[in-house]
Amino acid sequence: MPDITVTLAHEADFTGWRSATRSLAGRHTPPADIAWRIATHPESAALPAPDPAAARFTVPRAVMELAAIMVQSALPDRFALAYALVYDHLTGVPADEDAVARMAEAKDDVLAQTRHLRDEIREALSRHDGTPLYQGRVDTLGLVPESNARFLTLQRSFAPWQLDMPDRTLRWTGHEMLHEAPGQTPRPLDPTSLPPPALPMVPDLDIARITSLRAVALAAKTCLICPMAAHATQTVFGEGRETARMMFVGEQPGDIEDRAGRPFVGPAGQLFDRALHEAGIGRDDTYVTNTVKHFKFRRTPTRRIHEKAGPAEIAACAPWLAAERRIIRPAVVVMLGVTAASALLGRAVTISRERSRIIPLEDGSDGLVTVHPSYLLRLPDEAARAREYDRFVNDLRLAAGCLGPVVT
Ligand code: URA
Repeated sequence: MPDITVTLAHEADFTGWRSATRSLAGRHTPPADIAWRIATHPESAALPAPDPAAARFTVPRAVMELAAIMVQSALPDRFALAYALVYDHLTGVPADEDAVARMAEAKDDVLAQTRHLRDEIREALSRHDGTPLYQGRVDTLGLVPESNARFLTLQRSFAPWQLDMPDRTLRWTGHEMLHEAPGQTPRPLDPTSLPPPALPMVPDLDIARITSLRAVALAAKTCLICPMAAHATQTVFGEGRETARMMFVGEQPGDIEDRAGRPFVGPAGQLFDRALHEAGIGRDDTYVTNTVKHFKFRRTPTRRIHEKAGPAEIAACAPWLAAERRIIRPAVVVMLGVTAASALLGRAVTISRERSRIIPLEDGSDGLVTVHPSYLLRLPDEAARAREYDRFVNDLRLAAGCLGPVVT
């Protein structure tokens, strides 16, 4: 007879399960001692109190991913199975053969349902008549719709949607997620408590469909298209005004940007800010981004040394930059350095040949190529640095001039 009862907030309460697992597995509580229940009212959720005496532990990413998949399966004992998976891993107890077989089957099922649900959603959205609410119906068993709620929210750029299922309705109002079941009052559902979907949000997210910058930025955080994503600290997305008429595109975040999660805030960023100021451009009026959104580096014992982004990383990141340009629709795009210029012009570029003139871009905006601020920082000769800095400021003035006398 189990002597510990964990009452989770809802049917797909992954964060509740994870927190309970952290304290119970940290105390080596055997799976048989725990009963997992779902609260009938959100207020009756009850997790074990965090135990300072519980050992802290880490489990491989693959184990947690499988646990998250179990939580969204249709298995009635899914939380117990997910717990046993972690417990067996920690204690080295060989997993029960029957449990392994059931988990493998549930995993295949969740993966197939995830693919199916996303195909259905994409198809339905392509036919959606554009009314403010998208309402769909799915016959999925298990909690796959819940774990893909964020996927749908991003596809809808945070506009309202509703998914009707045989036994429940899941609704995003534009501000909050609600779960409704017959005979129950609608319950708010915290999207961050849900398990991550069984398939990554990107690359099968249709980035071209997203219409809000906030949704694109959020989706980019989950991007695992290229290996740099696992390597860098975080995605550094562009920042600035969604209505900016002027966009600046650099190469990739540097060491400081990688840690801060913001573009152009390190030494090159400071020089860039000074030049913008001298050119009479307020950075707050612009949008500043990079061709590649992750820091690519080589480690030495003491430092992380910047490595140039290659064609594969530039191509992998291209949909994010394209989405930023499509949503912001700047009048002028300033390409800072050769990586940005080659990516945006779609050909090999020599800065000295292309800089300081207006180049029409395919979306109707004006392009201008100039040097990258880091180039100025690297110049060894002070006189050359001052001369090149002035040319850089003049390029910025030229770009601002395309907008008329005031940058807004
Ligand atoms: N260099 C870049 O190209 N981008 C940054 O964000 C910082 C340095």
